[in-house]
Amino acid sequence: MCGIVGFIGKHPVLNVIVQALKSVEYRGYDSSGIALVNQGHLVRYRSVGTLDQLVKILPTNLSSTLGIGHTRWATHGAPEERNAHPQVSRGVSVVHNGIIENFSELKSQLLKQGYTFESETDTEVVAHFIHLHYSKCKNIPELFSKILHDLEGSFALAILLEDHSDHIFIARKGVSPLTVGRGPQGVSIGSDALSLVGIAEEICYIEDKTWGKLSLDKIEIFDTCQTPQPLHFILHPLGKDALGRGEFAHYMLKEMYEQPEIVLKEGSRHLDIPEELTHALHITLIGCGSAFYAAWGGKYYLEHLAHRKATLELASEFHYRNPIVQEGVTIAVSQSGETADTLKAIQYMEQKGQYTIGMVNVPYSSIARQVNYEILTNAGPEIGVASTKAFTAQLLCLLKISISLMKDSARKEKILNGLKQLPLDMQKIFFKVSQLQDIAQHLVHAKGIIFLGRGISYPVALEGALKMSELSYIFGQGFAAGELKHGPLALIDATTPVIVLAPMDQFFEKTVSNIYEVCAREGKVFIVTDEAGASQLAGVPVQDIFVYPSPATWELHPFLSALSLQLIAYYTALHKGCSIDQPRNLAKSVTVE
Ligand code: F6R
Repeated sequence: MCGIVGFIGKHPVLNVIVQALKSVEYRGYDSSGIALVNQGHLVRYRSVGTLDQLVKILPTNLSSTLGIGHTRWATHGAPEERNAHPQVSRGVSVVHNGIIENFSELKSQLLKQGYTFESETDTEVVAHFIHLHYSKCKNIPELFSKILHDLEGSFALAILLEDHSDHIFIARKGVSPLTVGRGPQGVSIGSDALSLVGIAEEICYIEDKTWGKLSLDKIEIFDTCQTPQPLHFILHPLGKDALGRGEFAHYMLKEMYEQPEIVLKEGSRHLDIPEELTHALHITLIGCGSAFYAAWGGKYYLEHLAHRKATLELASEFHYRNPIVQEGVTIAVSQSGETADTLKAIQYMEQKGQYTIGMVNVPYSSIARQVNYEILTNAGPEIGVASTKAFTAQLLCLLKISISLMKDSARKEKILNGLKQLPLDMQKIFFKVSQLQDIAQHLVHAKGIIFLGRGISYPVALEGALKMSELSYIFGQGFAAGELKHGPLALIDATTPVIVLAPMDQFFEKTVSNIYEVCAREGKVFIVTDEAGASQLAGVPVQDIFVYPSPATWELHPFLSALSLQLIAYYTALHKGCSIDQPRNLAKSVTVE
C-alpha cells in the first residue's frame, strides 16, 4: 500500500534508493519515483509501471548523497506520471504512504492561497501545505506540529526541503508504518524492515504522532510537544537472503514450496500462550482476506477441539458497526502485521477492555507492537502478493493453540502424530504437479469458477476462490456446498467449472450428493480429495479428480487441500500470462482502510 524509502549516505545514493524500492515494491507497483538533492537543488524522476520502468529513465552520473523514493498503489488519482510521487511544491518534495482524509478541505484553502495542482493526489496537497507553512514560519518544529495537527487520516511522510539539503524529514500519524535504519553506508528510512534489508544493520520503528530530522550524523525524533523521543534500535531481523527467490520462477512458487518445511519446523515447536487465552471462554478471531479465512479455520479448531466459543469478525467491517463486546480474548490474524483494518479492530477491542493477541508473520510490525501478546507464525518473509505460506502458518498456529487448550489427550496425540506426517504428504502434492497443471489448463478460458466445501473445507474453498480471482483475474466464488440448492445452483451450466473439496470427513456423503447435483446440470466438476475419498468416488462423472494423501485426522485436510488450490490458481494464472507476484491493482501490505 505504497512503499516509501529514503537514504542519506557518504557516497552517491541513487543505487541504494533503487535497491530499497525494489524491496518495498510489493507494497505497490503501479508507478514509482525518486527525488534527490543534487548540487543543492531538488531533482525528481517518476515513471508509470513497475520499478524497471523508472530505472530506465534514471541518469547514471548523479553524485547526490541524499534522496527519497516511492512505489505507488493508487488511492487518489489513476496510475499516471503526474500522480506518481514524489509530489512537489517550490523547494519541497514529498513521498507519502497513507490517506489524508481532509485533503479536499485543505486543497480548497490552498487554492485560495494561489496554489495550483497538477495531480489528483492528496500528497500534492501535503507538499503545498508544507510550502505554505514553512515559508511563513521557517521554523521546522512549528511546521511539524502543524503537519501532525492539521493533516487528518493516516500517513508516513518523507520530506526533502531544498534549504535543508543535508536532511530528510519524516512524520508519522495513524496506522502507516515507518522505520529508520542505520548502517555503515548511512542513515535510511523505509516503510518496513524488508525495505531496509542489506541497507541498515539496525532498525528502529517510529511511533505514532512523531516527526523526525535525519542527517548522516544524527537521528532525532520528537513528539508533538517537541520532546525528544528515545530511539530503540534493534538488530535488523532479516538477512540479505530474505529477499531472494533462488531457482524459482516466482516468489509465490518458492513460497508454496516452503510450506512443508514450515509445517515440519513449526508443527513441533512449542507454542507459549498467555494465561488470558487459557482461561478465555470466548475468543474473537479477526482478520482480512486470506488471514480471515485462516481465522475461519481456527474457529472450527477452537470450537471442535478446545470447546471454546469462537466468533469470527471481518476486520474491515467490525468496529464500524459498534459491536457489543463481552468479556474475552481477541486474536487478530495478519501476515504483514500492518493491515489498517485489522489494526483499527484491535484498537477498538482494546478500548472495550479485551485482551488482544496478534498472530503475525512480521515481528515488530504495527499489530505486533499494538497488542498485549504477540504470536509469531514464523513463515519467513512472504513477498508474493498472494498469501500462501503465511495462510498455512496461520492455520497451523491456530491448530496448535486449539490443541494446547483441548482436554482429550488421546485425540490430541492423534493430531500431533498426524502433524508429523503432514510435511511429507504436502511434498507428495508437488510430485503430482503436472495433474494440477492440466486442471489449470482446463480453467484458463472460464469466465467464472465455483469452489465448494463443507465444514472446515468451506473457508478453504473461499480461500481457493480468492487465490484464483486475484492471480488469474477469473472470477472465483466460494460457497458452502450445502448452500448450492439455496441459489448458486442457478449458475451451473456446461461453461462454469466447479471445484469441489470432498475430503473423507463427516460430510463426505453430503458433499458427494452435491457433486451429483452439479453433474446432473452439466456442470464441469473437478474434485480435490484424499485417497480415502477418491476410493469412494469411482464412477462419478467428473472432469478430473486430484488426490492427495489421506491425513490422520480431518483437522489436517486444509493444509493439503489449500496447497492444491494454491497450485491450481498459480498454474491457471501462469497459463494466462498474468503477473504472478504482483497481480494488478493489489499490494501486499494494506495500510489504508
Ligand atoms: C490474499 C491476501 C490478502 C491478505 C489480506 C490481509 O492472497 O494476501 O487477502 O490476506 O490483505 O493481509 P494481512 O494478513 O497482512 O493482514
